[in-house]
Amino acid sequence: MPTKPAPATDLAPDPAPDAAERRSTVRALLRLWPYVRPVRARLGTAAVTAILASCVGLVIPLVLKWMVDGPVADGDPSGVWLGALYLLLLGVAEALLFGLRRWLVARPLAGVEAGMRADLYRHLQRLPVAFHDRWASGQLLSRGTTDLMLLRMFLAFPLTFLLVNGVTILIGVGIMLVQDWTLGLVILGPAIPVMITCGIFEKKYSAVARRAQDQVGDLTTVVEESVLGVRIIKGFGRHRSQARAFHELSHTLRGTELRKARLLAAIWAVIVTLPEVAIGAALVVGAVQVADGALSAGTLVAFLSTALALRWPVESIGFLLAMSQEAATATDRYFEVMDAEVESAGGAGDPASVLGGGERGPALRGASRAVQARGEARLPAAGGLRFEHVRFRYPDAHPDSTPLLTDVDLHIRPGESMALVGATGSGKTTLTALVPRLHEVTEGRITLDGADITTLSREELRAMVAVAFEEPTLFSATVGENVLMGAGAGAGDEELDRALAVAQADFAHALPQGTGTQVGEQGLSLSGGQRQRLALARAVVGRPRFLVLDDPLSALDVHTEAAVEAALRQVLADTTALIVAHRPSTVLLADRVALLSGGRITAVGTHHELLRTSPEYAHLMSGLDGHETDEGPQEGNGR
Ligand SMILES: Nc1ncnc2c1ncn2[C@@H]1O[C@H](COP(=O)(O)OP(=O)(O)OP(=O)(O)O)[C@@H](O)[C@H]1O
Ligand SMILES: [Mg+2]
Repeated sequence: MPTKPAPATDLAPDPAPDAAERRSTVRALLRLWPYVRPVRARLGTAAVTAILASCVGLVIPLVLKWMVDGPVADGDPSGVWLGALYLLLLGVAEALLFGLRRWLVARPLAGVEAGMRADLYRHLQRLPVAFHDRWASGQLLSRGTTDLMLLRMFLAFPLTFLLVNGVTILIGVGIMLVQDWTLGLVILGPAIPVMITCGIFEKKYSAVARRAQDQVGDLTTVVEESVLGVRIIKGFGRHRSQARAFHELSHTLRGTELRKARLLAAIWAVIVTLPEVAIGAALVVGAVQVADGALSAGTLVAFLSTALALRWPVESIGFLLAMSQEAATATDRYFEVMDAEVESAGGAGDPASVLGGGERGPALRGASRAVQARGEARLPAAGGLRFEHVRFRYPDAHPDSTPLLTDVDLHIRPGESMALVGATGSGKTTLTALVPRLHEVTEGRITLDGADITTLSREELRAMVAVAFEEPTLFSATVGENVLMGAGAGAGDEELDRALAVAQADFAHALPQGTGTQVGEQGLSLSGGQRQRLALARAVVGRPRFLVLDDPLSALDVHTEAAVEAALRQVLADTTALIVAHRPSTVLLADRVALLSGGRITAVGTHHELLRTSPEYAHLMSGLDGHETDEGPQEGNGR
């Protein structure tokens, strides 16, 4: 099986105690098999081609021997020309075969890399929000770029050449032993020390390679953060300290890379020097034997040129092993992400998130069909949105800490809109994130029209519930595409215009290319309030049955807010809505208000009732008026 990376073991059988380490390198690389499987025939052919090319190279010394002992010794010029012609043909054949190998592997390996990258991206989309909270984005980025490139390089070179060089060395040594076994033994002398060095090298190199690749991830994170946070950095004059942080990290990385280079230099020194010394010794011993008449000059020439032909296969082992180590590390890092568990499917459907761009169309189409089917099949037992004894603790919070939400009980009747009010940090955003299952409840349950959300598939759920968060994220796409992201496939200009009207986002029509205007990364070319209105339009465009809005109007001036509210009221008339609110004006949008305090809902009623009966509510409404309204939403807590 040509694709099995076993040659590493064949070439450097391990006398050192790092056998376990070696096996885990091989095991790591074996995990690539599912990706390599489809191209195994090509890779196998390429390996056979390369072995053939190497063998052709090994025939050249034999032709030399024939020339020296035959035509040269006999003074036969035509024989010498014939020999030269043979040599030329052999050389051309070798070059052609190696060229063929390259052609054979290039396209399939680019395909393998692209396939792995696509899988990684798809997997990242399906991973729960809790995973992304925990992982630095740079670490994910570097896995999708540098690590995958290392893997492609490994499949292109070391995988084939560890095998090819191993076979070449075996055949070459065989030829040399047949020519003259005493000289053969002299040449073989350094084999054991070289193997031991390889063993030690591999172990050390694997640790350093891992460190270097992790540091590349850290560095990527810093670059990414400083690009995204460039306004803050400039605004606070932090570019020097940011540059210093970057410099320190890149200095560390440089140190690690130098350590890699030193290790490579060390193994290279051993691998190059010892065989050269052995060749020198063989030359001396051989010359003495030729002088004694015990050996023909042609045999010595053939022997030495075989030995020289084997120099490259032996010398290259050092960096082939180094590349294999890096590839094993890259494989580990790749599968660390791929092994992370995706969101449980819930219900019958596939867990793919409809919040990510690409797969949205078909997923949503399927979802709305599913929703229709559901509506006909199951009649709502207790309609509306209901939280039943919901308890929630963030997965990365200390297990002994009190949960953020201890016992939330709340019923929002069908068609009702409920405002959610609470002190900052009380868990309002967290509670809203539980409805589309961005986080899973720790205990208790949430039902939509009587159906437990965990029994619905993600598509069903997310087609029923639309969300707009505090930080209105826009993607690098047109305004229209950003808004229609919230609708099923087939939604067109009519829906777009309606949603823009509801969200008072008609400014979009006045943009240079209207709703076809591209907004930059994260929509930075728009104002905070404009972005917020587009996010709101995205939430309402699909006419969802349930609407969850996290402080959707915080960045708007009072006039715009009033206009949005008037339009929203029409939408909210036939939608069940949960709206996080900080300001009385937003609260007044809703039919009733719920107060979140100490991890539970402590009061429910109309705004005026609560003002009378709940001192905490009255305090929040008087004290928080205008709370955070002038802050750009992008500059929140960065989640
Ligand atoms: N991903 C997370 N992991 C761990 N803890 C978190 C996470 N996100 C938020 N928290 C914590 O949960 C608490 C509640 O946060 P949340 O965002 O729900 O508050 P909020 O009520 O929406 O506040 P605000 O009014 O300021 O928007 C905070 O103390 C915060 O530190
Ligand atoms: Mg919040």
